[in-house]
Amino acid sequence: MNSSISRRSFLRQSFAFSAAAGLGLGALPSLAKPHQKSANAVEWLMVGDWGYEKFEGQKAVAAAMQNYAREHSIKADALLMLGDNWYGDLTGGPDSPRWQTQFEQMYPKSSFDCPAYAVLGNHDYQRIPTSKVEAELAYAKRGNTRWIMPSRWYSFEFPAKNPLATVIALDSNMPHPGTPRPDSVDFTLTPDEQAEQLRWFKAELEKPRTTPYLIVIAHHPVYSNGPHGDHKTLIADWDPLLREHKAHLYLAGHDHDMQHLEFEGHPTSFALSGGGGADLYNLKIEEAQRGPYAAKVYGFSHLQITPEKLTMLHMDQTGKTIHGFTKTPAGVVTILS
Ligand SMILES: [Fe+2]
Repeated sequence: MNSSISRRSFLRQSFAFSAAAGLGLGALPSLAKPHQKSANAVEWLMVGDWGYEKFEGQKAVAAAMQNYAREHSIKADALLMLGDNWYGDLTGGPDSPRWQTQFEQMYPKSSFDCPAYAVLGNHDYQRIPTSKVEAELAYAKRGNTRWIMPSRWYSFEFPAKNPLATVIALDSNMPHPGTPRPDSVDFTLTPDEQAEQLRWFKAELEKPRTTPYLIVIAHHPVYSNGPHGDHKTLIADWDPLLREHKAHLYLAGHDHDMQHLEFEGHPTSFALSGGGGADLYNLKIEEAQRGPYAAKVYGFSHLQITPEKLTMLHMDQTGKTIHGFTKTPAGVVTILS
């Protein structure tokens, strides 16, 4: 099992990384000035746990995303919608007015004229009154939307021309004892679907990769300092694959906070962006114990991808950058400070 590393030892380690990385990469961004323009950069913005019944948190974060993009002249190439896309009632399914108010207009095309790649969360796996999973797949099929969800798990390379990242989008709604109960609105993948996805995930990873980065996205975190904690099934099924295939990033939501976890010897950086609008949760593990970053705060995240490095930034609901790190194709991580 992984041994966690403290922020202090991580920063010490990062300093060594920085010194080495700085030789070949030019000036590294700092947290005070994290934005570096690059002609061939791909810019993604992401948000998790956003489609909440109460709009206040979501509105603040969505407005901050728009301001942030405008202020930093970022033309988003993609949005990642990290699950729990719809809390509560989605009467009408793909015809629910919530698609307009809480997706199309909340993250408007005028600011984000790009595809929005979505994964399914536990709240999406509810029948209120009918399956929201089916509603989200059906909405994507209509074609006159930025909403992308071709199936419950899927992969893509980005951008289409000279791709920089191989992305595997997974459905982390794993069967567990007690669900689905016949009287419950909640459901999950069936054990057969879970096994089918795992076979597909392995087959995708076995394909020769031509891009510099492998990024896996799903709603549930493998590791989390939030109240949901570490996920036993994902640790058993997916973590060995992340290690074996040296995934650069695993992006998730689910806990309503912002996190970045690194584990000594683990090739994957775990970033959690769950501050998109739903009520915040108290952390269970402080970042001093396991980090380098965990904060109970609303926010969104920005991933800049260039051939030289990934730059991952967490912002709060005012658009202020609260944490960031870079990672090279070879896996060298540098915390911005
Ligand atoms: Fe969730």
